[in-house]
Amino acid sequence: MAKVTAISFGRKMSNTDVMLKEILRKCAEAGHDICFIRPDDLNIGACTGCCACVAGILSGRSNGECVMHRDDDFHIVEDAYYSADALIIGSPVYETSPSGTFKTFCDRMGPSHDIAFLTEARKDRLARDGESAMLPDERAFKPRVGCLVGVGGARTENWTIMTIPVMYECMMSAGVDVIDTHVYYGAMNVQHVLGVPEQMARMDEMAQHIIDALAAESDEERRAWRGPSDGACPVCHQSMFRVHQGSDLVECAICGIEGTVGIVDGKITYRFTKEWQDRSRLKYAGKLEHRNEIADGAMTQKKVPGLAELKKPYLTVGE
Ligand SMILES: Cc1cc2nc3c(=O)[nH]c(=O)nc-3n(C[C@H](O)[C@H](O)[C@H](O)COP(=O)(O)O)c2cc1C
Repeated sequence: MAKVTAISFGRKMSNTDVMLKEILRKCAEAGHDICFIRPDDLNIGACTGCCACVAGILSGRSNGECVMHRDDDFHIVEDAYYSADALIIGSPVYETSPSGTFKTFCDRMGPSHDIAFLTEARKDRLARDGESAMLPDERAFKPRVGCLVGVGGARTENWTIMTIPVMYECMMSAGVDVIDTHVYYGAMNVQHVLGVPEQMARMDEMAQHIIDALAAESDEERRAWRGPSDGACPVCHQSMFRVHQGSDLVECAICGIEGTVGIVDGKITYRFTKEWQDRSRLKYAGKLEHRNEIADGAMTQKKVPGLAELKKPYLTVGE
C-alpha cells in the first residue's frame, strides 16, 4: 500500500477539488492510503526572498527550514507532500496560468526542498560529522510520481496555455517524476464537472496511471511517462519552447533542454541530443549543475564598492 496525496487550489467542492477527489477515490479502491489537502484553507505566507533556506543548506547551518516555518501552516502541506508516494496537484486557471496561491506554494517548496541541494548537504555532513550529523528529512529522498491537473473556464484552450508549464514548478525542486498531465477547459460552460462524464473518465485514467506506476517493478517503469503522446519535448512531454530568432535553436521552457528544429514534409521536426536530455532540470544531473552554480555564485559573489552611497539617491524615490 502506498500513500496518494492530492493538493487542490480550486474552490471548495468545485471542479478541481472533485476531479482530484475522483482520482483519490479510485486509488483508495485499489488499496492505497489517501490524503486531500487545500492550501487555500490554511495560512501560508508568501516567500519573502530572504534566501536563508539556501544559505542554511549550503553553509551547513540548517536543513533549509524556512524562517516562517513556525509561524504559519506551510508545514502541514510539506508533511502531506513528503509523506506521499504519489502526488496529484490541481489548480484553476487564472489569467492563463495557475492560481497565485499555487505559485506561493511553489516558491515555498523551492530551494529548501531541492533534491540536489539536500543530497549534497547530506553527503557533506555525513563526511564531516559522521553519525552525529544534522541530516535533512529522510523523506525528501523518497522516489515519488506526480500528476498535474488544470481547470480553465474559457472555451478556448489557448486561455489555459501557461498552466501546465508553470505547474511543473511544484514537482521540480523535490524531483518528483511527472507521469501525466491534463487540462479541462471550457469549465464555465457546464455548472460542474460532475456533468461532464468524459472529464471524470479522464481522471479515472489518470488514477490508473498512478496505480500502475506505484505497482512498477523497476524505477524506469515507475517513472515512465503515461500521459498524452503529442508533446514535442522528449523529457517533459510538453511543447512550450523559447525560439532563438535567426537560428534553428529551441529551448524547452519547462525542463530547460536545448535542441534544434527543422521542417520535413511541412511538419516541424525536433532533435534533442542525449547529452541535453540528461542535463534537463527535471533530472538529477541538471539539478546538480544548478546547485553548483548557486553555491559557486554565493562563494565568489562580487562586492559593489560604496554600495550604501550608491543606494542613497534611490532611498526617497517614490516614498
Ligand atoms: C481571476 C480569474 C481569472 C481567470 N482567468 C482564466 C483564464 O485565463 N483562462 C480560463 O480558461 N479561465 C479563467 N478563469 C476561470 C476559472 O479557471 C474557472 O472558474 C475554473 O472553473 C475555476 O476552477 P474551480 O471551479 O475548480 O474553482 C478565471 C477565473 C478567475 C476568478
